[in-house]
Amino acid sequence: MIKGDKINLIPATLDDRRKIYEWCFQSETTKCHSGPPDYPNNPIPTYEEFCSSDDGGYTEYYFTGVKPKDGRGFLIVNGKEAVGFISYYSFHLKSGISELDMWIKDEANCGKGFGTDALVSLGNYLNEEMGIRELIIAPSERNTRAVRAYGKAGFVKTDKAMSEFLADEYISVFGEGDYGTGDTAILVKRFNA
Ligand SMILES: CC(C)(COP(=O)(O)OP(=O)(O)OC[C@H]1O[C@@H](n2cnc3c(N)ncnc32)[C@H](O)[C@@H]1OP(=O)(O)O)[C@@H](O)C(=O)NCCC(=O)NCCS
Repeated sequence: MIKGDKINLIPATLDDRRKIYEWCFQSETTKCHSGPPDYPNNPIPTYEEFCSSDDGGYTEYYFTGVKPKDGRGFLIVNGKEAVGFISYYSFHLKSGISELDMWIKDEANCGKGFGTDALVSLGNYLNEEMGIRELIIAPSERNTRAVRAYGKAGFVKTDKAMSEFLADEYISVFGEGDYGTGDTAILVKRFNA
């Protein structure tokens, strides 16, 4: 378990995977990042697509921990219940860099500082225990709540292109970011050691 101030992070298991999908893609917060009307170019995936190994899907190792250098998912737990999901993944990046992704399960649990705390806690863990020196997170520019929360967690917008963080073999796959070059905000957090 990774301890934060407001939340703890508990390694997610395969039994959690479907509800984690539903929190992201079948919930009242889905419209913040996917599907029409605001994100017609980011269609809502099926559960099978979410789990697929193509294009960085949430394959089994995020929920079993067998590839900790490639990625891992965690439930965000607020003392009473799981309120969201956060993951890191490094399989596609240059050495020493990790990308983060997260979502809170419903509006009632957004805006309470859980997301920011999860991001700070996981980032510190990755730096202290996994030797990660630089974190990136890449929401839509139009997801102003996400950009604001990530800024509170110490992330700063960069003008660097996504390709500068990616391992060469993944530039053609992920080089444009999830929202395309014009709409993907790239935020970074660097550690000194
Ligand atoms: C983005 C998300 C992870 C942030 O986590 P969170 O726990 O809600 O974040 P926090 O409560 O720590 O901070 C949110 C901040 O955004 C602010 N905010 C809320 N609505 C906002 C808006 N429309 N525009 C700008 N800022 C906004 C809040 O006031 C708060 O800032 P403050 O503490 O200075 O007042 C969470 O809101 C979420 O999952 N949203 C829905 C799904 C999503 O967008 N996921 C991210 C995909 S990249």
